[in-house]
Order: sequence, then C-alpha cells, then structure tokens
Amino acid sequence: MSYTYDFYRQSADYLLKKCVTPPEIGIILGSGLGHFASQIENPIAVPYSDIPNFLLSTAIGHAGQMILGTVVGKRVVCMAGRFHHYEGYDFEQLAIPVRVLKLLGIRALILTNAAGAVNMGYRAGDIMVVSDHIKLMGASPMRGPNVDEFGPRFFDMCSAYTPSLRKLALELSERSPLTVHEGVYFFMPGPQYETPAEIRAIRALGGDAVGMSTVTEALTASHCGLPLLALSVMTNMAAGVLDVPLTSEEVMETANAIEGPFTEYVKDIISHI
Ligand code: HPA
Repeated sequence: MSYTYDFYRQSADYLLKKCVTPPEIGIILGSGLGHFASQIENPIAVPYSDIPNFLLSTAIGHAGQMILGTVVGKRVVCMAGRFHHYEGYDFEQLAIPVRVLKLLGIRALILTNAAGAVNMGYRAGDIMVVSDHIKLMGASPMRGPNVDEFGPRFFDMCSAYTPSLRKLALELSERSPLTVHEGVYFFMPGPQYETPAEIRAIRALGGDAVGMSTVTEALTASHCGLPLLALSVMTNMAAGVLDVPLTSEEVMETANAIEGPFTEYVKDIISHI
C-alpha cells in the first residue's frame, strides 16, 4: 500500500461532503471515554467502514465512527473509536486518522486516553495533561517515503504537545472538580498490561503514566504542524503499585465514573480554543 497525499485526500473529501461547514477542532476519544460523543449537537455520524481508505476499529469500548457537529458553539469532528498498534495495525497505518483530520482543516487536535498511573503522587480518577512522551519502540508512523505535503522528512518534537494548549488546560482545571497533573506519557504496545518490573523501569526513566495509544497520533500531528493537546485519564494505578491484578473492567469502571466531569472539562477547553 502506498500512502500518497491523494490517498488521505480521498478520505477527507468524502467527509467534507458530509458537512456544511468544515470542522475547527478534532477530538479522538480514548477507551471508555466515549461519553463526550453524546454531547455533540446536530451530529452527523459516519461509520469508519463508509470512509474510503479508512481503518476499522476492533477494540472493546470503541464505537468506530466519525461524528461531525458542534460543541459549545465550536464545529468539531470527533473520532469515537481509535486505532491501536495492538489491534494489528502497523505504525504507518496509524498515521491515517490524524492526516485525514488535518485535511478536514482543523486548527487543533485533542487526544484523550485511558492510562495507568506510574507517578506515586497520582490517584485513579486523576487527569494528566501530557507534556511529553517516551516511546522506546523503533517504528514511527512517518517511516517510509516522506509525504512532503504534510511535513519535512526530519521534524521537531520539542513542542509536540503545544505549550499554549497545555497552559490553557492547566488553567481551566482550577474550576473543575478533577485533580489535574502535568506529566510524561510512556507508550507501551500492549495488549498485555505491563509487568511490575516494567513499571519500575518506566518510573526510573521518567514516565508518569503508561498507555497503549496517543504517541503515533502525536507524532503525526507534529509532522504536519497540527497544534495538539493530550489528556490522560488515570483509570488505574499501574501494575505492581497495588497488590491487585489489572483488568479492563477496572479501566472501564474508572473511566465511566469520571465521564461527567471529564466531559465538562473537555468542553470548557474547547470553548477557549
Ligand atoms: N497500562 C497500559 N495501558 C493502560 C493502562 C495501564 O495500566 N490503563 C489503561 N490503559
């Protein structure tokens, strides 16, 4: 498969025909964090299977549709259901959603994810504004021929998580009942949760939270110069912190428990972008 500019353009043109006015802000919802989608006004839902050249979501808790509409007066495009490496997609394929969102003309992207808390000062139910990430796996979504229309071969990652959006999210957290931190997201490929020894290593390396998504999207956004905010929901303490096995039920339960305030927080951020 050759990922040319036209390949992404076909998906974007299909979606643009579905909306009267193009969206301003893109949102990708993480596992169990789909509640936000119910807040979209005048929604137009497009199943991923209808979008040319798009991927299909297989993960539990991911609906698999693109929703166009408005939230707090802003035109949004929301991906209810994201794609992960553990589903079998390679890193190059994981660039597709963000490149398509970029071609819709959005001026900012918000990523949400469920993550395990590695930092011992965090608690389940807390939020982390991602300041940076660590991905020790070699592959990159930008591997292969560079698509020059999106960005240069070699690109900066120093301000991938846009400083002004991070500042905004931290300021707005003051009026939210949620406890919001800022920290480093450590990517692990999954689908297994980490071992306790891996979590100790991640902590020593500077990770505050661990998860199986987000970094490929952040790399793709950075490559094409798309301002980015990533919010991690601490759905559990990471492996080995508590003397209990990790389950996806626990992850979903915590995500569901905070969906109300989290959705309000994300809406408040959107209203200020
Ligand atoms: N590890 C990796 N991914 C996750 C976790 C975790 O503990 N919790 C939610 N997603």
